[in-house]
Amino acid sequence: MKYDFETMIDRRGTNSLKWNVGENELPMWVADMDFQTAPEIIEALREKVCHGIFGYTIIPNAWHEAIMGWWRTRHNFEIKKEWLRFCTGVIPAIDCAIRALTNPGEKILMLTPIYNHFFISIEENEREAVECQLEYDGSKYWINYVDLEAKLADPKTPLMILSNPHNPTGNIWDKETLARIGELCRKHQVTVIADEIHCDLTDPGYAYTPFASVSETCAHNSITCIAPTKAFNIAGLQTAAVVVPAEGLREKVQKALEMGDSAEPSAFAIDAAVAAFTKGAPWLDALRAHIFQNKQLAGRFIAENIPEVSVVSSHATYLIWLDFSEITDDSTKLCQRIREETGLYMNIGEIYGGNGGQFARLNVACQSERLKDGLARLAKGIQLYKGQKGERE
Ligand SMILES: Cc1ncc(COP(=O)(O)O)c(C=O)c1O
Repeated sequence: MKYDFETMIDRRGTNSLKWNVGENELPMWVADMDFQTAPEIIEALREKVCHGIFGYTIIPNAWHEAIMGWWRTRHNFEIKKEWLRFCTGVIPAIDCAIRALTNPGEKILMLTPIYNHFFISIEENEREAVECQLEYDGSKYWINYVDLEAKLADPKTPLMILSNPHNPTGNIWDKETLARIGELCRKHQVTVIADEIHCDLTDPGYAYTPFASVSETCAHNSITCIAPTKAFNIAGLQTAAVVVPAEGLREKVQKALEMGDSAEPSAFAIDAAVAAFTKGAPWLDALRAHIFQNKQLAGRFIAENIPEVSVVSSHATYLIWLDFSEITDDSTKLCQRIREETGLYMNIGEIYGGNGGQFARLNVACQSERLKDGLARLAKGIQLYKGQKGERE
Protein backbone atom coordinates (compact mmCIF):
# COMPACT_ATOMS: atom_id res chain seq x y z
CA MET A 1 0.00 0.00 0.00
CA LYS A 2 1.19 3.48 -0.83
CA TYR A 3 1.05 5.86 2.09
CA ASP A 4 0.77 9.61 1.71
CA PHE A 5 3.35 11.82 3.39
CA GLU A 6 3.02 14.69 0.93
CA THR A 7 -0.53 16.04 1.18
CA MET A 8 -0.42 19.27 3.14
CA ILE A 9 -2.66 19.11 6.19
CA ASP A 10 -3.71 22.32 7.91
CA ARG A 11 -3.19 21.88 11.64
CA ARG A 12 -4.01 25.43 12.64
CA GLY A 13 -7.10 25.70 14.81
CA THR A 14 -6.80 22.07 16.03
CA ASN A 15 -5.32 22.88 19.46
CA SER A 16 -1.98 21.59 18.24
CA LEU A 17 0.85 22.68 20.54
CA LYS A 18 3.25 22.72 17.61
CA TRP A 19 1.01 24.89 15.46
CA ASN A 20 0.00 27.34 18.17
CA VAL A 21 2.04 29.99 16.38
CA GLY A 22 1.54 33.22 14.45
CA GLU A 23 -0.06 33.43 11.00
CA ASN A 24 3.21 33.63 9.10
CA GLU A 25 5.19 31.31 11.31
CA LEU A 26 6.38 27.85 10.32
CA PRO A 27 6.81 25.57 13.35
CA MET A 28 9.60 23.02 13.00
CA TRP A 29 10.28 22.58 16.68
CA VAL A 30 8.58 20.09 19.09
CA ALA A 31 8.93 16.36 18.21
CA ASP A 32 5.52 15.95 16.61
CA MET A 33 5.03 15.13 12.92
CA ASP A 34 2.78 16.86 10.38
CA PHE A 35 1.41 13.53 9.08
CA GLN A 36 -1.74 11.63 9.88
CA THR A 37 -0.95 8.47 11.79
CA ALA A 38 -1.11 5.01 10.20
CA PRO A 39 -4.53 4.20 8.66
CA GLU A 40 -4.61 1.02 10.78
CA ILE A 41 -4.46 3.14 13.94
CA ILE A 42 -7.10 5.54 12.66
CA GLU A 43 -9.34 2.55 11.94
CA ALA A 44 -8.88 1.15 15.46
CA LEU A 45 -9.70 4.55 16.95
CA ARG A 46 -12.70 4.95 14.61
CA GLU A 47 -14.10 1.67 15.89
CA LYS A 48 -13.66 2.88 19.44
CA VAL A 49 -15.31 6.22 18.68
CA CYS A 50 -18.23 4.51 16.96
CA HIS A 51 -18.74 2.25 19.95
CA GLY A 52 -19.36 5.48 21.78
CA ILE A 53 -18.64 4.40 25.34
CA PHE A 54 -15.40 5.65 26.83
CA GLY A 55 -15.37 4.17 30.31
CA TYR A 56 -12.42 3.06 32.43
CA THR A 57 -10.02 0.78 30.59
CA ILE A 58 -8.14 -2.38 31.53
CA ILE A 59 -4.79 -3.48 30.15
CA PRO A 60 -5.54 -6.65 28.17
CA ASN A 61 -3.15 -9.44 27.28
CA ALA A 62 -3.27 -8.19 23.66
CA TRP A 63 -1.32 -5.10 24.77
CA HIS A 64 1.52 -7.17 26.25
CA GLU A 65 1.53 -9.48 23.22
CA ALA A 66 1.66 -6.54 20.81
CA ILE A 67 4.69 -5.00 22.49
CA MET A 68 6.48 -8.32 22.98
CA GLY A 69 5.87 -9.27 19.33
CA TRP A 70 7.13 -5.93 18.02
CA TRP A 71 10.37 -6.00 20.03
CA ARG A 72 10.93 -9.68 19.16
CA THR A 73 10.51 -9.20 15.42
CA ARG A 74 11.84 -5.68 14.89
CA HIS A 75 14.44 -5.34 17.61
CA ASN A 76 15.46 -8.94 18.29
CA PHE A 77 14.67 -8.64 21.98
CA GLU A 78 12.55 -11.01 24.07
CA ILE A 79 10.62 -8.97 26.60
CA LYS A 80 8.92 -11.08 29.25
CA LYS A 81 5.30 -10.29 29.95
CA GLU A 82 5.86 -9.69 33.65
CA TRP A 83 8.51 -7.03 32.91
CA LEU A 84 5.96 -4.73 31.26
CA ARG A 85 3.88 -1.99 32.86
CA PHE A 86 1.63 0.52 31.13
CA CYS A 87 2.19 4.22 31.77
CA THR A 88 0.64 7.35 30.35
CA GLY A 89 3.89 8.72 28.98
CA VAL A 90 7.64 8.48 29.06
CA ILE A 91 8.05 11.72 30.99
CA PRO A 92 5.48 10.64 33.63
CA ALA A 93 7.39 7.33 33.93
CA ILE A 94 10.72 9.11 34.33
CA ASP A 95 9.23 11.48 36.90
CA CYS A 96 7.92 8.52 38.88
CA ALA A 97 11.23 6.65 38.61
CA ILE A 98 13.14 9.70 39.81
CA ARG A 99 10.93 9.94 42.87
CA ALA A 100 11.10 6.20 43.52
CA LEU A 101 14.85 5.74 43.13
CA THR A 102 16.44 8.94 44.37
CA ASN A 103 16.11 11.38 47.25
CA PRO A 104 15.79 15.15 47.02
CA GLY A 105 19.23 16.71 46.57
CA GLU A 106 20.72 13.63 44.90
CA LYS A 107 22.29 13.78 41.45
CA ILE A 108 21.10 12.37 38.15
CA LEU A 109 23.62 11.99 35.37
CA MET A 110 23.02 12.56 31.66
CA LEU A 111 25.07 12.65 28.47
CA THR A 112 24.53 16.17 27.14
CA PRO A 113 23.25 17.83 25.03
CA ILE A 114 20.10 15.83 25.78
CA TYR A 115 16.29 16.13 25.60
CA ASN A 116 15.47 19.24 27.63
CA HIS A 117 12.54 17.80 29.55
CA PHE A 118 14.89 15.59 31.56
CA PHE A 119 16.36 18.72 33.14
CA ILE A 120 12.86 19.93 33.97
CA SER A 121 11.87 16.60 35.55
CA ILE A 122 15.03 16.49 37.62
CA GLU A 123 14.78 20.07 38.81
CA GLU A 124 11.03 19.97 39.52
CA ASN A 125 11.65 16.93 41.70
CA GLU A 126 14.37 18.87 43.54
CA ARG A 127 17.20 16.64 42.35
CA GLU A 128 20.36 17.91 40.69
CA ALA A 129 21.13 17.38 36.99
CA VAL A 130 24.75 16.44 36.33
CA GLU A 131 26.10 16.61 32.81
CA CYS A 132 28.68 14.38 31.24
CA GLN A 133 29.18 16.44 28.10
CA LEU A 134 29.50 14.48 24.90
CA GLU A 135 32.70 15.14 22.98
CA TYR A 136 32.21 16.79 19.59
CA ASP A 137 34.59 17.01 16.63
CA GLY A 138 32.60 19.27 14.32
CA SER A 139 30.52 16.50 12.80
CA LYS A 140 29.73 13.83 15.38
CA TYR A 141 29.46 13.17 19.11
CA TRP A 142 30.95 10.47 21.34
CA ILE A 143 31.33 9.64 25.04
CA ASN A 144 34.21 10.69 27.25
CA TYR A 145 34.40 7.58 29.45
CA VAL A 146 36.89 9.07 31.89
CA ASP A 147 34.47 11.89 32.69
CA LEU A 148 31.52 9.47 32.69
CA GLU A 149 33.16 7.16 35.22
CA ALA A 150 34.30 10.01 37.44
CA LYS A 151 30.73 11.28 37.64
CA LEU A 152 29.17 7.84 38.10
CA ALA A 153 31.60 7.23 40.97
CA ASP A 154 30.08 10.08 42.99
CA PRO A 155 28.08 8.30 45.73
CA LYS A 156 25.47 11.08 45.53
CA THR A 157 24.59 9.91 41.98
CA PRO A 158 22.20 6.93 42.09
CA LEU A 159 20.61 7.38 38.63
CA MET A 160 21.54 7.99 34.99
CA ILE A 161 19.12 8.86 32.19
CA LEU A 162 20.17 7.58 28.79
CA SER A 163 18.49 8.61 25.52
CA ASN A 164 18.78 5.67 23.09
CA PRO A 165 18.76 6.69 20.24
CA HIS A 166 19.88 10.06 21.46
CA ASN A 167 17.74 13.20 21.23
CA PRO A 168 18.88 15.74 19.94
CA THR A 169 22.08 14.44 18.28
CA GLY A 170 20.46 11.40 16.65
CA ASN A 171 23.23 9.00 17.81
CA ILE A 172 22.30 5.33 17.76
CA TRP A 173 24.41 3.90 20.59
CA ASP A 174 25.98 0.61 19.53
CA LYS A 175 26.07 -2.56 21.59
CA GLU A 176 29.67 -2.04 22.79
CA THR A 177 28.90 1.48 23.99
CA LEU A 178 25.76 0.36 25.80
CA ALA A 179 27.63 -2.57 27.37
CA ARG A 180 30.34 -0.23 28.62
CA ILE A 181 27.78 2.19 30.08
CA GLY A 182 26.02 -0.77 31.69
CA GLU A 183 29.23 -2.09 33.28
CA LEU A 184 30.22 1.30 34.62
CA CYS A 185 26.76 1.89 36.06
CA ARG A 186 26.74 -1.48 37.77
CA LYS A 187 30.25 -0.92 39.14
CA HIS A 188 29.15 2.35 40.74
CA GLN A 189 25.62 1.20 41.65
CA VAL A 190 23.87 3.64 39.39
CA THR A 191 20.50 2.58 37.95
CA VAL A 192 19.89 3.39 34.29
CA ILE A 193 16.69 4.78 32.82
CA ALA A 194 16.90 4.02 29.11
CA ASP A 195 14.49 6.29 27.25
CA GLU A 196 13.96 4.51 23.94
CA ILE A 197 11.00 6.50 22.65
CA HIS A 198 12.77 7.28 19.32
CA CYS A 199 13.90 3.69 18.70
CA ASP A 200 11.63 3.01 15.74
CA LEU A 201 12.74 6.13 13.90
CA THR A 202 16.04 4.92 12.52
CA ASP A 203 17.16 5.52 8.94
CA PRO A 204 16.33 2.64 6.55
CA GLY A 205 18.93 -0.10 7.05
CA TYR A 206 19.84 1.07 10.56
CA ALA A 207 18.70 -0.70 13.73
CA TYR A 208 18.93 0.29 17.36
CA THR A 209 20.00 -1.95 20.22
CA PRO A 210 17.71 -2.02 23.26
CA PHE A 211 19.82 -1.26 26.33
CA ALA A 212 18.26 -4.11 28.32
CA SER A 213 19.06 -6.60 25.52
CA VAL A 214 22.81 -6.07 25.77
CA SER A 215 23.58 -8.17 28.87
CA GLU A 216 22.13 -9.44 32.12
CA THR A 217 23.94 -6.55 33.77
CA CYS A 218 22.14 -4.01 31.61
CA ALA A 219 18.79 -5.80 31.91
CA HIS A 220 18.79 -6.07 35.68
CA ASN A 221 19.98 -2.58 36.40
CA SER A 222 17.60 -0.68 34.14
CA ILE A 223 14.18 0.74 33.51
CA THR A 224 13.43 1.08 29.80
CA CYS A 225 10.78 3.50 28.59
CA ILE A 226 9.14 2.73 25.26
CA ALA A 227 6.11 4.03 23.37
CA PRO A 228 4.42 4.04 19.97
CA THR A 229 3.89 7.78 20.27
CA LYS A 230 6.90 9.29 18.45
CA ALA A 231 7.07 6.76 15.64
CA PHE A 232 3.32 6.78 14.97
CA ASN A 233 2.66 10.43 15.78
CA ILE A 234 0.16 9.78 18.54
CA ALA A 235 1.79 11.62 21.45
CA GLY A 236 -1.51 13.22 22.43
CA LEU A 237 -3.00 9.78 23.13
CA GLN A 238 -0.63 9.32 26.06
CA THR A 239 0.32 5.69 25.73
CA ALA A 240 3.69 4.28 26.80
CA ALA A 241 5.26 1.41 28.70
CA VAL A 242 8.11 0.62 31.01
CA VAL A 243 10.17 -2.55 30.82
CA VAL A 244 11.74 -3.50 34.14
CA PRO A 245 13.37 -6.95 34.26
CA ALA A 246 14.51 -6.75 37.91
CA GLU A 247 11.66 -7.63 40.25
CA GLY A 248 12.63 -5.32 43.13
CA LEU A 249 13.08 -2.36 40.82
CA ARG A 250 9.81 -3.16 39.08
CA GLU A 251 7.88 -3.14 42.33
CA LYS A 252 9.27 0.28 43.20
CA VAL A 253 8.48 1.67 39.75
CA GLN A 254 4.99 0.20 39.73
CA LYS A 255 4.20 1.71 43.12
CA ALA A 256 5.50 5.09 41.94
CA LEU A 257 3.43 4.92 38.74
CA GLU A 258 0.31 4.18 40.76
CA MET A 259 1.04 6.94 43.26
CA GLY A 260 1.76 9.31 40.37
CA ASP A 261 -1.59 8.46 38.72
CA SER A 262 0.31 7.43 35.60
CA ALA A 263 -0.65 3.75 35.42
CA GLU A 264 -4.16 3.98 33.97
CA PRO A 265 -4.86 4.17 30.24
CA SER A 266 -7.32 6.52 28.58
CA ALA A 267 -10.06 4.92 26.50
CA PHE A 268 -7.87 5.23 23.38
CA ALA A 269 -4.40 4.40 24.68
CA ILE A 270 -4.57 0.61 24.45
CA ASP A 271 -6.35 0.32 21.08
CA ALA A 272 -3.89 2.74 19.49
CA ALA A 273 -0.82 0.96 20.87
CA VAL A 274 -2.07 -2.50 19.89
CA ALA A 275 -2.92 -1.34 16.34
CA ALA A 276 0.49 0.35 16.01
CA PHE A 277 2.51 -2.63 17.18
CA THR A 278 0.50 -5.30 15.38
CA LYS A 279 -0.41 -3.56 12.10
CA GLY A 280 1.77 -0.48 11.80
CA ALA A 281 5.00 -1.89 10.34
CA PRO A 282 4.39 -1.16 6.62
CA TRP A 283 3.35 2.43 7.35
CA LEU A 284 6.31 2.92 9.65
CA ASP A 285 8.78 1.68 7.04
CA ALA A 286 7.27 4.04 4.46
CA LEU A 287 7.54 6.87 6.98
CA ARG A 288 11.21 6.08 7.68
CA ALA A 289 11.93 6.23 3.95
CA HIS A 290 10.18 9.62 3.71
CA ILE A 291 12.06 11.02 6.72
CA PHE A 292 15.34 9.78 5.30
CA GLN A 293 14.59 11.56 2.01
CA ASN A 294 13.79 14.73 3.94
CA LYS A 295 17.02 14.48 5.91
CA GLN A 296 18.97 14.08 2.68
CA LEU A 297 17.11 17.00 1.10
CA ALA A 298 17.89 19.18 4.11
CA GLY A 299 21.55 18.11 4.14
CA ARG A 300 21.99 18.86 0.43
CA PHE A 301 20.20 22.21 0.64
CA ILE A 302 22.25 23.34 3.61
CA ALA A 303 25.56 22.22 2.08
CA GLU A 304 24.79 24.05 -1.15
CA ASN A 305 23.12 27.20 0.19
CA ILE A 306 24.28 27.74 3.77
CA PRO A 307 27.72 26.07 3.92
CA GLU A 308 28.56 27.90 7.15
CA VAL A 309 25.90 25.75 8.89
CA SER A 310 26.72 22.08 9.37
CA VAL A 311 24.37 19.20 9.99
CA VAL A 312 25.53 16.75 12.65
CA SER A 313 25.70 13.28 11.16
CA SER A 314 23.08 10.93 12.55
CA HIS A 315 21.03 7.86 11.70
CA ALA A 316 18.00 8.24 13.94
CA THR A 317 15.07 10.52 14.73
CA TYR A 318 13.49 13.11 12.46
CA LEU A 319 15.27 15.89 14.30
CA ILE A 320 18.33 17.41 12.74
CA TRP A 321 20.92 19.08 14.89
CA LEU A 322 22.36 22.15 13.28
CA ASP A 323 25.77 23.50 14.17
CA PHE A 324 25.83 27.32 13.98
CA SER A 325 29.24 27.71 15.60
CA GLU A 326 30.76 29.26 12.48
CA ILE A 327 28.17 32.04 12.64
CA THR A 328 27.66 32.66 16.34
CA ASP A 329 28.31 31.37 19.83
CA ASP A 330 24.77 32.41 20.81
CA SER A 331 22.33 30.33 18.80
CA THR A 332 19.46 31.50 21.02
CA LYS A 333 19.79 35.01 19.70
CA LEU A 334 20.21 33.71 16.17
CA CYS A 335 17.09 31.52 16.40
CA GLN A 336 15.09 34.42 17.83
CA ARG A 337 16.17 36.60 14.92
CA ILE A 338 15.35 33.89 12.39
CA ARG A 339 11.92 33.46 13.94
CA GLU A 340 11.21 37.20 13.99
CA GLU A 341 12.40 37.78 10.46
CA THR A 342 11.32 34.63 8.61
CA GLY A 343 8.78 32.93 10.90
CA LEU A 344 10.84 29.71 11.08
CA TYR A 345 10.49 28.32 14.60
CA MET A 346 13.21 25.85 15.66
CA ASN A 347 14.21 24.64 19.12
CA ILE A 348 17.11 26.62 20.50
CA GLY A 349 20.05 24.39 21.39
CA GLU A 350 20.91 25.76 24.82
CA ILE A 351 17.93 24.03 26.47
CA TYR A 352 19.63 20.67 25.82
CA GLY A 353 22.74 21.49 27.86
CA GLY A 354 26.26 20.51 26.84
CA ASN A 355 27.51 22.47 23.84
CA GLY A 356 23.90 23.14 22.73
CA GLY A 357 24.34 26.92 22.90
CA GLN A 358 25.78 26.92 19.39
CA PHE A 359 23.13 24.63 17.90
CA ALA A 360 19.45 24.42 17.03
CA ARG A 361 17.13 21.46 16.49
CA LEU A 362 15.04 21.33 13.34
CA ASN A 363 12.13 18.90 12.96
CA VAL A 364 11.94 17.61 9.37
CA ALA A 365 8.94 15.29 9.81
CA CYS A 366 6.74 17.14 7.38
CA GLN A 367 5.74 17.28 3.73
CA SER A 368 8.71 18.00 1.44
CA GLU A 369 7.04 21.24 0.27
CA ARG A 370 6.88 22.45 3.85
CA LEU A 371 10.47 21.39 4.45
CA LYS A 372 11.62 23.36 1.42
CA ASP A 373 9.77 26.38 2.77
CA GLY A 374 11.53 25.93 6.13
CA LEU A 375 14.94 25.57 4.54
CA ALA A 376 14.42 28.67 2.39
CA ARG A 377 13.48 30.59 5.56
CA LEU A 378 16.57 29.25 7.30
CA ALA A 379 18.83 30.40 4.45
CA LYS A 380 17.17 33.81 4.40
CA GLY A 381 17.40 34.16 8.18
CA ILE A 382 21.09 33.33 8.22
CA GLN A 383 21.76 35.75 5.38
CA LEU A 384 19.93 38.55 7.18
CA TYR A 385 21.68 37.78 10.45
CA LYS A 386 25.10 37.82 8.82
CA GLY A 387 24.27 41.10 7.06
CA GLN A 388 23.20 42.71 10.35
CA LYS A 389 26.25 41.33 12.13
CA GLY A 390 28.45 42.78 9.36
CA GLU A 391 26.80 46.18 9.83
CA ARG A 392 27.39 46.07 13.60
CA GLU A 393 31.06 45.14 13.21
C1 LIG B 1 13.69 11.52 24.36
C2 LIG B 1 12.26 11.84 24.66
N1 LIG B 1 11.68 11.30 25.74
C3 LIG B 1 10.40 11.57 26.06
C4 LIG B 1 9.63 12.40 25.28
C5 LIG B 1 8.21 12.70 25.69
O1 LIG B 1 7.55 11.51 25.96
P1 LIG B 1 6.03 11.50 26.46
O2 LIG B 1 5.26 12.39 25.54
O3 LIG B 1 5.65 10.06 26.36
O4 LIG B 1 6.05 11.98 27.86
C6 LIG B 1 10.19 12.97 24.14
C7 LIG B 1 9.40 13.90 23.31
O5 LIG B 1 9.88 14.53 22.42
C8 LIG B 1 11.53 12.69 23.82
O6 LIG B 1 12.12 13.22 22.74
